[in-house]
Amino acid sequence: MRRPLVMGNWKLNGSKNMVNELIANLRNELSPVYGCDIAIAPPVMYLDLAKHNLSGSCIALGAQNVDLNLSGAYTGDISAAMLKDIGTRYVIIGHSERRTYHKESDEFIAKKFAVLKEKGLIPVLCIGESEAENEAGQTEAVCAKQLDAVLDTLGASAFENAVIAYEPIWAIGTGKSATPAQAQAVHKFIRDHIAKKDADVAKKVIIQYGGSVNASNAAELFTQPDIDGALVGGASLKADAFAVIVKAAAEAKRV
Ligand code: PGA
Repeated sequence: MRRPLVMGNWKLNGSKNMVNELIANLRNELSPVYGCDIAIAPPVMYLDLAKHNLSGSCIALGAQNVDLNLSGAYTGDISAAMLKDIGTRYVIIGHSERRTYHKESDEFIAKKFAVLKEKGLIPVLCIGESEAENEAGQTEAVCAKQLDAVLDTLGASAFENAVIAYEPIWAIGTGKSATPAQAQAVHKFIRDHIAKKDADVAKKVIIQYGGSVNASNAAELFTQPDIDGALVGGASLKADAFAVIVKAAAEAKRV
């Protein structure tokens, strides 16, 4: 049985006060016994403060991005080594906002995946199709291409101890989540696609759903057999909503 992972992607939101307050509230809402891995990914500026606030809790630290180089003359970059040093466990890569606003390619994202693995960090690889691609029936082809960038360069074993987040772009921040059946179909496709290379890795890999997950729709999404948790944007900024989502995942996946 896969242990679900619910991770909050705070995106470009936060302040010192907000980090202190939100984490205190999350700690009140979430006790360590839940059968679900939990993480939050605040902006890089606040990772150290967040780590300090999370000390002794059941919530792990994630980052929203990483650069390719480990050190040297790369002004403004943040390395995997630094993220590790701060105590980060998960790193989101390939988010559609970075693919769109920073023109990150599949190849570039695959290189980030490799750097994270090398440093012992857990990549959370975001994939997913646009609304136009969805309407054109290209969802599977788009997801396969985004997965293949990693599979073809690093092999299926790279997905051991890695996470995939299926996030249809049309569902991100729109309030229009994929239906549980729609999401399940794509999650199954993703797992089957990896299984063609390595069935054991495919069986174990965590595939989160992301895109307008909230306190009301999470439980139903988690009833689907191939949905192993969620990557949560907007709703992760509210401790009570995020806690409901975590508890729904733990409950749905209880063995
Ligand atoms: P959302 O964002 O939950 O606000 O739709 C999800 C994400 O972008 O990871």
